[in-house]
Amino acid sequence: MSIDYKIADITRHEEGRHQIRLAEQEMPGLMSLRAEFGDAKPLAGARIAGSLHMTVQTAVLIETLVALGAEVRWASCNIFSTQDEAAAAVVVGTGTAEQPAGVPVFAWKNESLEDYWWTAKKILTWPGAEQDPSLGANMILDDGGDATLLLHLGVQYEAAGAVPGPDAAENHEHGIILSVLRESLARDAQKFTRIAGQIQGVSEETTTGVLRLHQLAERGELLFPAINVNDAVTKSKFDNKYGIRHSLPDGIMRATDVLIGGKVAVVCGYGDVGKGAAEALRGQGARVIITEIDPICALQAAMDGYQVARLESVVGQGDIFITTTGGKDIIRVEHMLAMKDKAIVGNVGHFDNEIQMAELAAVPGVQKIEIKPQVHEWVLEPGTGQERSIIVLSEGRLLNLGNATGHPSFVMSNSFTNQVMAQIELFTKAGTGHYDKQVYVLPKALDEKVARLHLDALGVELTALSPEQAEYLGVPVEGPYKSDAYRY
Ligand code: NAI
Repeated sequence: MSIDYKIADITRHEEGRHQIRLAEQEMPGLMSLRAEFGDAKPLAGARIAGSLHMTVQTAVLIETLVALGAEVRWASCNIFSTQDEAAAAVVVGTGTAEQPAGVPVFAWKNESLEDYWWTAKKILTWPGAEQDPSLGANMILDDGGDATLLLHLGVQYEAAGAVPGPDAAENHEHGIILSVLRESLARDAQKFTRIAGQIQGVSEETTTGVLRLHQLAERGELLFPAINVNDAVTKSKFDNKYGIRHSLPDGIMRATDVLIGGKVAVVCGYGDVGKGAAEALRGQGARVIITEIDPICALQAAMDGYQVARLESVVGQGDIFITTTGGKDIIRVEHMLAMKDKAIVGNVGHFDNEIQMAELAAVPGVQKIEIKPQVHEWVLEPGTGQERSIIVLSEGRLLNLGNATGHPSFVMSNSFTNQVMAQIELFTKAGTGHYDKQVYVLPKALDEKVARLHLDALGVELTALSPEQAEYLGVPVEGPYKSDAYRY
């Protein structure tokens, strides 16, 4: 049977397969789930619409979901994050370039925003589901919440019988989403409502997507149960921190080749991602300055030995500026206008609204020069004698995925083992009343299991708790060892 897909270049599948093979070695959590559940196939019957950076590591996730019985359609959750060779290998699967037999992937590096929202719709619309909705997606695996958002907006506008006109668009991207939905409503008044009716649950990867899920649940609008994978300890305290500690300097170096040592680096936000970013830059010898709005995180940064300042106070000193907040308008156009010549500006928070890119483009006389893909020099006040420029990475989008290849396999194995367990949990308990239309985290015992699965590979010798010690501490010998309130 032929599969539908849209990727950059299917002939790169062997290159992707070699990388996937090496990544499997570095992803012991996922590989042990294959060994544990490969026969039982707990995901048989699951049809997962996946929206998560289409990298080599994600290929191992996708193929683990398939090994556990799931059918999958996949898109990337960012226009720049796809590794085209990984996408090719996943599409080809056990087949050939001529007769692919893998998973339908709709992702390529350097999508337009129109392409991006087309791919989001493609993973939600399954072949045959127009005639028989029960053949459609019944699970979502999301990163940043865009697949979930599109579905919820679709249902909302189908109920209203109309999608707002172009004038209602908050920005360019919102206008594209509205036009995708308008076109869909014109063809089929109930498409998204039927799709949503089949969905048993969503597992969400990142801080920003979890925020969106909580907002939906608080308004009573969440259409199905959700598991917040991000707040598994073995996700956010590992991927967000140690992952960025690797992939942020990787992205800056691949993009610019600038020596980080001796520079002044300003990191906006000192949450999990900010902590990893600051440590990485300091590790390279930069003098790091933190900006924070939360007094607890500001105090943590100070106690960790960083200067903590407002961006306005230090904007003229920084050589490198990195946003990590998950908020918006963090580096504003007035900041960029006040930066040093050739200052580097980048973001690793989930969405591109942390840096005011549209406002930068609207500065009178500004010129944009492409140094190479995903690296742009923005020349300010050209020809005035005051001419200077800043270097913006990945157009203000996730630079660790746009300019490099994202987090390495070992740390993603932790995150994705949580993802697979969340999918099993939601899918196997669907219809039992176990989960309401709320946002849940995985039980702590599973969190500890994820960590346990990664110890051997690092040669970690874990101390065993004796029954007497366990009784004294009031915890089971086999765990879990901490209360839910423990912060690690
Ligand atoms: P977090 O909530 O732990 O940290 C964000 C920090 O930013 C908080 O401490 C907050 O007080 C601070 N903040 C908010 N507004 C600010 C402002 N105006 N100025 C200065 N600081 C401000 O969130 P986490 O887990 O660190 O995630 C941050 C973002 O990174 C999210 O969008 C998340 O989805 C994304 N993320 C990106 C990854 C990547 O590979 N690039 C990996 C994991 C998460």
